[in-house]
Parts: sequence; structure tokens; C-alpha cells
Amino acid sequence: MSILNETMILHGCDYNPEQWLDYPEILQKDIELMQKAHINCVSVGIFSWAKLEPEEGIYTFDWLAEIIDNLWAAGIRSLLATPSGARPAWMAHKYPEVLRVGPNLQRNRMGQRHNHCPTSPVYRQKVHDISLRLSERFGTHPGVIMWHLSNEYGGECFCPLCQEAFRGWLREKYKTLDALNHAWWTTFWSHTYTDWAQIEPPLPSGETGTHGLTLDWRRFVTDQTVDFCAMEKAAVREAGSTLPVTANLMGFFNGLNYFKFKDVLDVVSWDSYPAWHNDQMDDVAVAALTALTHDLMRGVKRENFLLMESTPSHVNWHEMNISKKPGMHELSSLQALAHGSNSVQYFQWRKGRGAFEKFHGAVVSHDGRDDTRVFRDVAALGADLEKLGEIAQSKVPARVAIVYDWENRWAFEGMSGIKKERRYVETVLRHYATFWSMGIPVDVVDMECGLDGYALVVAPLLYMYRAGFAQKLRGFVQAGGTLVGMAFGGVVDENDLCYLGETPAGLTDVYGLRSEEVMPQHAGQENHFIWNGKTYGLGDICERIAVQGAEVLGSFQDDFYAGEPAFTHHEFGKGQAYFLAGYADQDFCGDFYAGLIQALKLERALDVELPYGVVAGVRQGARRYVFVQNYLDTPCTLNLGDGVYTDMLRGESVRGTVTLEGYGVRVWAAEV
Ligand code: GAL
Repeated sequence: MSILNETMILHGCDYNPEQWLDYPEILQKDIELMQKAHINCVSVGIFSWAKLEPEEGIYTFDWLAEIIDNLWAAGIRSLLATPSGARPAWMAHKYPEVLRVGPNLQRNRMGQRHNHCPTSPVYRQKVHDISLRLSERFGTHPGVIMWHLSNEYGGECFCPLCQEAFRGWLREKYKTLDALNHAWWTTFWSHTYTDWAQIEPPLPSGETGTHGLTLDWRRFVTDQTVDFCAMEKAAVREAGSTLPVTANLMGFFNGLNYFKFKDVLDVVSWDSYPAWHNDQMDDVAVAALTALTHDLMRGVKRENFLLMESTPSHVNWHEMNISKKPGMHELSSLQALAHGSNSVQYFQWRKGRGAFEKFHGAVVSHDGRDDTRVFRDVAALGADLEKLGEIAQSKVPARVAIVYDWENRWAFEGMSGIKKERRYVETVLRHYATFWSMGIPVDVVDMECGLDGYALVVAPLLYMYRAGFAQKLRGFVQAGGTLVGMAFGGVVDENDLCYLGETPAGLTDVYGLRSEEVMPQHAGQENHFIWNGKTYGLGDICERIAVQGAEVLGSFQDDFYAGEPAFTHHEFGKGQAYFLAGYADQDFCGDFYAGLIQALKLERALDVELPYGVVAGVRQGARRYVFVQNYLDTPCTLNLGDGVYTDMLRGESVRGTVTLEGYGVRVWAAEV
């Protein structure tokens, strides 16, 4: 249950001593300051390749050994990176094939990071060699606790090697060109392939309209990246290291299907940079999206994760780089814990002097002081995390699952038709937010995950039903589960070929209806329905449906299809399925899910009235840990009724009426 099987929360940062090797006094000061800030771990070596192998085959690890030794002597542990996120100039110069080729089919020049070809045998060999050596040297160092593979895997390469690998991947998948041509429906516009060599990736100057090709390319990019990651893992294992490996993921990043990393990574970690205090969304909305993203990252392995990067103050790449206001650092950090993180880590420890990230927030700024607001906030959080060690052994007890599936997103966002605007993540968030605001823990699953143990599954905008998914939902409902589905579901199979026959494919008898016609709505336009005497809006993509057994709970009010079903319910097996013929408004989600939560006896983190902007999260272990979070900048008062808790940070008993300051957060434990 606990990462590293310990009762402690990691508090750490990306540390880049390689930038400071000419400043020994700074390196010495770093350790002293880290101790003051209650830092117990650092990620090192992420972008250090040029200092670790300054010339081909010449490995210079002594400086790193000294850093790791000194850190360890001070009780600070290291997550050691493989350096593949950025390659040295000598390598790009000598072996241009290591550089990426863009969709314009031009090879990039040396520069940036994440600019490598994942297929290049030369790059793979170089990464293997240095990772193996790092592992030989540090794999059993008592101060090294984990491998941090590369950095934020992502991006695609269109070089001849990658194209050939793609064709090999397709041969493996389809075996025959006939099978491929059918899956991609290539008779359309006479695009039939008669030789594997004719196949190219989707390119702006070439094929963009064959959706099956685009989908397979994205799957290939994921598989190739997972394979690269597995190669890095194998290299550190080759030297005998048994330390867990992680890679820092990026939440809803659309370039990779992160669920495919679940077997290669021992631990999932991710980099979270919410835009707090921006002028487009209020902090409550930012918090909801961040909560969903934490849950998605926990969902990849359905295990606790690490918050590998966050900023102690601000970033350098948002439209406006706004510092966290007082309270927000502790609040946003403990939010991660509430959703299953066993760490709070930062980018970065110390601001660099030059280059791209010199103005990115850091624990220590250019003045090197420890009496800044940011440093004090970090140190205070570090001291607090030391009181929360037992939480590492607990997990988020979710009985609700919401389906988010990357392949569905690729297909839905890539199709042409209905309307240009695609609101997949937004739709998932709309349904998720109600549970979040009511303190109901939610797991995020994809179509390959099992559904056992859930009472409720919410399936928003699942245009694609991958093979086996409809059967899985059917089995779930049959066995007593409650399913909520919605318009434009089960339209295509995993190749993006339309299902022939009635849709939602394979589930029409479960929902007791069939879809008849899609009715896209203009931005801001809504049709309406009345349920329990109240009027609600349905927008975005609405659908005319024909009921075949379902009970109609609400009918459309407007347009030529007024009077037709908009919201239905159907019992199937021991369970039930609700269907919404459109994108439901927030008000409806609030009322509808509040009723379901009661009916299904779903346990709330805190069973009290919570004002807008105040939410509670829960983890369950030796005790029940409740995280009360106020995302408003004004105080709020809660009435706890009969509840009695222990405030883990303040060491006092909590009961009765409690006031939380603006951006306040509390961690309470209850005996179970
Ligand atoms: C991350 C990256 C870090 C740093 C950070 C800045 O995406 O992994 O190396 O660049 O962003 O916010």
C-alpha cells in the first residue's frame, strides 16, 4: 500500500547540483538549507548527462557520488535519474540520428530537451550504457531509494527508423494488409495499401483523414515510449539494482496513454502545476481539475503515487506566473495527499543563474536566503508532513469509478463530424466535480480496468467502445451495479469503425433504449428537461433516443423533438442504468448524484454541510484521515455535529463548530 513500504511522506525537490559545481559554497549551503526546510529526499541527475559523460565513453561520476554521499550523511535520500531526457551536444553532433524528426520530415537540430528519437539504436545504446553504469555505481547506495527514469516522456518522431518500426508494429498487429485495409476502411478515396512499404504515419502533407491510421500511430507512439522506458528499466536492473522505478507523468497530457505504463513502472509519479489565482477559472474550479488529475494518476496503477514536481511558488511558463497566495502552498500540497500521493516534491530546489528556467519558482531564490515567505512556507509544510507519516500506509477508498480513456479521447477528438468543439475532458470533469464537492472518493479507470467492487460507474462521452468494454459494463450492471451513460456512446469500435446496428453498441438492452439522431448544440445553447419538478439544461451533444423498455424520467422541452426522452432509467439484471441524452448542467449533476449517493449509501469523507469551495477528501488506513480544504480566500465555519476527530497537525481534539481560514486546510484522524 505504501510506496517504499514506509511510514513517512517524502518531502523533496529536483536538485541540479551539476549547475553549481563551480560554486562549492553553494553546494555546502544547500544541504544546510535543505535540513532547515525539512527536505528528506531529492531527485538528482535528471539533466546531468553532459557532466556524467562529458566525452563519449568517458564517465565522470565522482562529483555525483560526492553529492549523494553528502546528502545521505545529512539524512537526505536520492531519487536517481537516468539522464535520457536531454542528450549532450557531442552526441547530437556525432550521431544526428539521435535527434527527432518532426511531422514536416525535417530532422531537428541540437537543442531543447526531449528531442530524441525513441527508436534510434544509437540513442538506445547510449542510454542503456550510462544507465547501467549509474546503476552499477549507485544501485546499492543506502542513500538512493528509487530510479527516476528519464523526464516527462513525450513527443513523437517521424524519422525513417520510427516509420519502419511503425510498419513492423502494424504487421505484428494485423498480420495481413487485407486486415489492415479493412480496419482502416481504406477503400474510401482509393487509399488501399498493396505493400507495407506504402504506409506512412499521419502527416500534415500526407494522410490525415484515415482515422484508424491516426489511432494506430498514437498507439504505436505509446508502445514505443513504453518500450523505451522498459529498456531504461532493464538497464538499471541489469546491474542488479532492485530499487523501484518511477517516471514523472503529466496528468492529462494527450500524447501518451499512461495506462499502458502500469506494468513497467513500479510507482507512478507526476508533475502538477495548476494555475492558481488565474483570471479565467476560480480557484475552486482549478482545485476540481487538479483533484481529478491526481485521481487519474492514482488510477494508472490503482495505487498511491508520488507528487514528483510542483512549484513552491510559481512557474515560468503560464500566461501569468502568479505566486501562490498565503495558505495555498500547504493547501495544494495536502490536496495531493488527500488523493493518494505519498509525497510533496518540487521543481526546483534552487533557481538557476541562467537559461530558460532562471525565473521559475524554487525553494531557494537567487538571494540564497532562508527567511523568505516561500522558504518559510516550504519549511512549515515539511514540518507538518513529518506528523503525517502514518498516512503513507492508507489508501483512497473509492466505490465510484469514472471512465476516462485515452484511446476514446483520441478517436473522439480526431473524428470529423457533429461539431468542431470537443469537450471530453471537460465532460468528465463536469460529472466528477459533484462527487469531489460532496467528498465522495472517485477512481478514474480506463476501458481495460476491472470494475469489481464499485457501486457506481459513470461513463461520460464514450464515443468508442473498445473490444470487451460493453460486455464489461453489462456484467457490472447485471451483477447489481449502477451505470450512468450518456449521449453519443458506443458509436465506433476500437478501429474507429462505426458499429453496424443499434447503439450504444452492445448495451441497448442494458439502457433499454437506442440512439436515433445526434443533435449538436451551439456553444451556450441548451435544450431542457424537467425532472422532479425542476428544469435542467442539456447541451453540447444531445441525442434523440427511442426507448425500448426504459422508464422516461424527463423529456426534452424545446425544438422539434420536444416531448421526446431526455433522461431515462432502466433496470437490468440486479442493477440499473441511467441515460442522459446530452451534456448535463452542473445543477443537474449536483441534484442527481446527491440522490444516488444517498441511495447507494456511498460514504462521504465528512458527513456535514460543506459550503461552496470547501471540500473534504479521505484516506483509509489504521485510522480514517479526512482532509478538509477551503479553496476560498475567505474563512468558513463548519458544524461537525457528533463528529470527533484528532487534528494531526495541531495535536488537538476537534468537535463542534470549527472555523477554517481562507485557503485553510486541516488533516483530521478518526478512529475506525
Ligand atoms: C516540468 C519539467 C521540469 C521543469 C518544470 C518547470 O515539466 O519536468 O524539468 O521544467 O516542468 O515547471
